[in-house]
Amino acid sequence: MTDKVKELVSKCLQARDMAYCPYSRFPVGAAILTADGAIITGCNVENASYGLTVCAERTAIQRAVAEGHRQFAAIAVTCDIKDRFVGPCGACRQVLMEFGSDWIVYLAKPDGSYKETSLSELLPLAFTPAHLGKN
Ligand code: THU
Repeated sequence: MTDKVKELVSKCLQARDMAYCPYSRFPVGAAILTADGAIITGCNVENASYGLTVCAERTAIQRAVAEGHRQFAAIAVTCDIKDRFVGPCGACRQVLMEFGSDWIVYLAKPDGSYKETSLSELLPLAFTPAHLGKN
């Protein structure tokens, strides 16, 4: 594992500890690696009006964009499930796809072990900005 991937996985584990999830008690952490090497993290943020909950991955990307990043290399995601690798929900896959299909996705377990996949593998035949002629 490269040092940068190790750092990315470690940051997503730390982000999970910040999750605000009093309703589901299901903390999730995400860490995005930008094209220029920055790491931006996010956690799930729930709401008493349940449908307003924001997933960790979307918290991270909205934060990243607000901080001026639009080009991304990878995202690491984690939750508390120990015995299998868990992928981002469908809504988050679509939101990541907005910024390209080339993302590497690391699915991390709480012990730091991970499985490498890609956004195109997780969301094949995606609807993208290209379909709107906007890029
Ligand atoms: N959650 C995420 O943060 N990311 C996902 O990809 C799946 C689900 C959160 C939303 C909610 O706070 C909790 O996990 C249970 O669904």
